[in-house]
Amino acid sequence: MDKLAIIGGRPLYGVIPISGAKNSALKVMAASLLSDQELTLENVPRLADVDMLLRLLNQHGVASVFENSTLRLRAKDIASTEAPYDLVRKMRASFNVLGPLLAREGKAKVSLPGGCAIGARPVDLHLKALGAMGADIELDEGYVFAAAPDGLKGADISFPFVSVGATEHVMLAAVLAEGRTVISNAAREPEIADLAVCLNAMGAGIAGAGTSTITIDGVKSLSGATHRVLPDRIETGAYAMAVGATGGELTLKGADGSLLGAGLSVLEETGLLVEPVDGGLKVKKQVDRCRAVDIVTQPFPGVATDLQAQFMALLATADGVSRIKETIFENRFMHAPELARMGAQISVDGQTATVRGVPRLKGAPVMATDLRASMSLVIAALAAEGQSMVNRVYHLDRGFERLEDKLADCGALIERVKD
Ligand code: UD1
Repeated sequence: MDKLAIIGGRPLYGVIPISGAKNSALKVMAASLLSDQELTLENVPRLADVDMLLRLLNQHGVASVFENSTLRLRAKDIASTEAPYDLVRKMRASFNVLGPLLAREGKAKVSLPGGCAIGARPVDLHLKALGAMGADIELDEGYVFAAAPDGLKGADISFPFVSVGATEHVMLAAVLAEGRTVISNAAREPEIADLAVCLNAMGAGIAGAGTSTITIDGVKSLSGATHRVLPDRIETGAYAMAVGATGGELTLKGADGSLLGAGLSVLEETGLLVEPVDGGLKVKKQVDRCRAVDIVTQPFPGVATDLQAQFMALLATADGVSRIKETIFENRFMHAPELARMGAQISVDGQTATVRGVPRLKGAPVMATDLRASMSLVIAALAAEGQSMVNRVYHLDRGFERLEDKLADCGALIERVKD
């Protein structure tokens, strides 16, 4: 298993290109199942998660060509409506093929998902919503068996709490359903609006994506389209925090600060200047030592749970005491003991972590536990005195494109150690 060797203490200067958003790419890729014509996706990041979904789509009969960051997908015929355990278990987003397969073919058998080890993460909302749209759903031997021989029907779906995946899943199914679907308490993440732009370009009738109420008027068929995936807001926030932890000044090319929601003002509160510039964002550390802040993760436009771990790394060296409350996932502080190995002072009580900033972290061997947690260890290592070895880099490869190249180009001492 590859590791990253990082010698900390060097400020970052230069330009980092921000990749297309992983969490958007995965959903628009699933949309390719809905049409027999070609879907061209631009700005798709080269990531292990994207490759994994591609393998699954290929297995369903989707022909693909991936050149540079342009991915062409064509599902002329669906070769299989079964998504096997081996291809679904490693990544939860694969589960979102269920809706499109059901909508197009009237049946699907999809393994229950896996993904990051950050809590139970059930799919009950997904299944209930598809059931409300007329699908017969049975669970057996770790698989979901779904059937809608007469097609899906539009329905009023009111989610008891916000779920990004379930909102997207309903959109991916309802576009080909008969009649109108209305989603209440829909997630408002930028990736939802991006998916709607893509589906509408294919001929879907979606209104209100990006607000809490989404209306979808089903159509008989969808066509091909070309869609450009929006920039990755989590990558953007993570590199901004790297500047906060190490000092220096970065231009994040292609980044859009408005996609960070409340995360943007938190970055500014810590003492960073985050300023739109031509074609991106400039990030500069304006204080000697970042200031402590209190954070509560929330659905968009609140502070993203996917930035919580990185904020913890930044605040580990801030001046003062910060409180971080995680409200989305029940087991998402696994990075705290790893950061403590580098000298961070963090105590966790249930869903709240208290971080007492120390002037300097010390390099140490640490273990990545999930995707975003891994990035928090990289940020801490970049700031720490001496060498750190971040183990289990495969987590990072799932979600951060060319991480070590991007950082090394800006002055970081970072190297991949192959095993
Ligand atoms: C997506 C993102 C993930 C991000 C999360 C929250 C992708 C590929 N992943 O994950 O990076 O951290 O949004 O912004 O886009 N829940 C249920 N039942 C369900 C569905 C969800 O109880 O049927 C719970 C989850 O366990 C979690 C909460 O709802 O506690 C929110 O999860 P959700 O928004 O669905 O996250 P994902 O779509 O899995």
